[in-house]
Amino acid sequence: MTAKIIDGRAVAKEVRDAVAADVAAMVAEGKNPPGLATVLVGENPASEVYVSMKHKACEKAGIKSIGHVLPATATQEEVEKMVEDLNEDPEVHGILVQLPLPDGLDDESVLRTISIEKDVDGFHPLNIGRLAQKGREPMFVPATPDGVLYLLKNAGVVLEGADAVVLGRSFIVGMPAALLLIKENATVTICHSRTKNLKEKCAEADVLIAAVGRAEMVKGDWIKPGAAVIDVGTNRVDDPSVERGYRLTGDVDYKEALEVAGYLTPVPGGVGPMTIAMLLRNTVRAAKLAYGN
Ligand code: GUN
Repeated sequence: MTAKIIDGRAVAKEVRDAVAADVAAMVAEGKNPPGLATVLVGENPASEVYVSMKHKACEKAGIKSIGHVLPATATQEEVEKMVEDLNEDPEVHGILVQLPLPDGLDDESVLRTISIEKDVDGFHPLNIGRLAQKGREPMFVPATPDGVLYLLKNAGVVLEGADAVVLGRSFIVGMPAALLLIKENATVTICHSRTKNLKEKCAEADVLIAAVGRAEMVKGDWIKPGAAVIDVGTNRVDDPSVERGYRLTGDVDYKEALEVAGYLTPVPGGVGPMTIAMLLRNTVRAAKLAYGN
């Protein structure tokens, strides 16, 4: 079997085009464009890259984005004061505090300060709590797992009754992805560093989400033939044969998985582009809510 490749770039472009059309319609009605405020604390190079990508994508979609930077020495009160000011700003519809925060800052307290109507990352404890409750809906769903579910549904993968395995239990991806799959009536197993018989558990999955951050950990014989495999990992692996000295690879051994899986996302070009597209979509939703539609 050769897996059907899920092209995250193409799907993300469709989502971004729809977002841009929504923004254009809003502006044509005389409204301010949606506004996204980002808060970056400290000097984490990866976070700086991610935030800059989010700003560029906003600009392309017609969303106004405002970047706020605080030094790593910022106090809890300073970070939360910034969030409180953004809560009050009518031109800001979405607030994103880039994680991780520097050591010593309490991220839960900061995330709780964000007004839930502006919580476009979906990390406010209330939004996460609603995600975990049957019959309740969060105002916003975290972008990466939202993108994972979008790709699965868009590819026509049946989730109802499926056996799903989520590798990784992070706050940003693994846990919310598992909660979303439960909402779709999948039967979900969450695996992590202490899980026994990991390979055997993965090999029973109709849907396998890999989000552990370990390069090519999931081998071909970890995959049930025909399974849908979504690779959330983005790992740097040394590669002297290329000029920059490294290549990006996922948590899944792509070549091996290609021979076994039914559906597979590449890295790069799979889940990554979806994260930003879903954030933009959440920001437009936040603006629509603020405008009463
Ligand atoms: N750090 C890694 N991914 C994310 C994300 O989706 N949102 C925020 N705020 N921080 C992150």
